[in-house]
Amino acid sequence: MSYMPARNHAAYWAFAAHRLSGLALAVFLPLHLYVLSMAINQAALNGFLDWAENPLVKLAETGLIMLLAVHLTGGLRLLALEFLPWSEAQKTRIALAFGLALAAGLLFFVLAW
Ligand code: HEM
Repeated sequence: MSYMPARNHAAYWAFAAHRLSGLALAVFLPLHLYVLSMAINQAALNGFLDWAENPLVKLAETGLIMLLAVHLTGGLRLLALEFLPWSEAQKTRIALAFGLALAAGLLFFVLAW
């Protein structure tokens, strides 16, 4: 019988979200450092900051905050899973992690506009 991963479970989607958000953050980081390096040329940095006022950039930033929040809350859940005594409340903790991440994204969205 062939091996079938159990994808119809909240823990699988928590794992997938953690991996995808981690990879997306790793892609973002060099771009972020590149923009910071523009600070040695004030005109270039100001040009970028003007461009970043675009609403689509603000929307993308909201997505980025959610990715970071998903990875942060999911990562804290995994660390709790590894280092604290076992709890049956894994699904509740997964829901809490996603809920807190969504709240962080919405808060950023409201404050940034
Ligand atoms: C904000 C605080 C963060 C926390 C608490 C955190 C926590 C974790 C934990 C616990 C893991 C291991 C997951 C596992 O055992 O399966 C992990 C994996 C990973 N993290 Fe983070 N992390 C954080 C920030 C970041 C940032 C800023 C990046 C990227 C720049 C990042 C990229 C990754 C990647 C690529 C993985 C591997 C994912 C995988 O193999 O599935 N993390 N993180």
